[in-house]
Amino acid sequence: MTQRLRLGILASGGGSNLQVIIDHCQEHGFPAEIAVVIANNPDAGALERAHRAGIPARCINHRDFAGREAFDTALVTALQEAGVQLVVLAGFMRIITKVMLEAFPQRIINIHPALLPAFPGLHVQQQAIDYGARFSGCTVHFVDGGVDTGPIIIQAVVPVLPEDTADTLAARILEQEHKIYPRAIQLIAQGRVLVEGRTVTIDPPAAPQATALVNPSLKN
Ligand code: GAR
Repeated sequence: MTQRLRLGILASGGGSNLQVIIDHCQEHGFPAEIAVVIANNPDAGALERAHRAGIPARCINHRDFAGREAFDTALVTALQEAGVQLVVLAGFMRIITKVMLEAFPQRIINIHPALLPAFPGLHVQQQAIDYGARFSGCTVHFVDGGVDTGPIIIQAVVPVLPEDTADTLAARILEQEHKIYPRAIQLIAQGRVLVEGRTVTIDPPAAPQATALVNPSLKN
């Protein structure tokens, strides 16, 4: 059997994205495995999910460190000790410094609950509603030195509905996150993801999405 890509998952919260990655990694033939789960917050539900699945997990609390770089140095050590090849940010609410970027060049991916480049940063579902956007969605991208600015691997679009609150929109987006994050990991693990500047190419190509979406619809 060919080697599976070793993932290091970083999380801060409930860990529903972690859970779908755990589930995919348990499927026969999925080309990745989780080497370690690290949370920066001792109460993160992600730690409990990892324990339940028998996956090595630990808390590295950012509050125990003098600054972002010292925290990232501890993360790098733990990830390297676990033999991690791809770092997967799954609801990880800390800004990554050059310490991590230099240790894992083009080997850190993030999922963001908006259609980048619209609405980087925090509270983005509320931002999309307040702006009056008709669509939002989610984005998996490589992490670079900016906030949610790296090359885009895959996106899903969801409509913003008139009655939406930040919570209902977040739930609709999360459903799509759970589809696109495992897919991005699969493509990377298969060696099909090539990056040139900002452009990510899938090789051999995955079928493109060629249908336009209109919201509100053109009917009645
Ligand atoms: C997800 O919606 C993810 O996109 C978002 O946090 C949530 C985590 O949910 N990440 C960010 O906002 C990163 N800036 P989860 O813990 O259930 O996977």
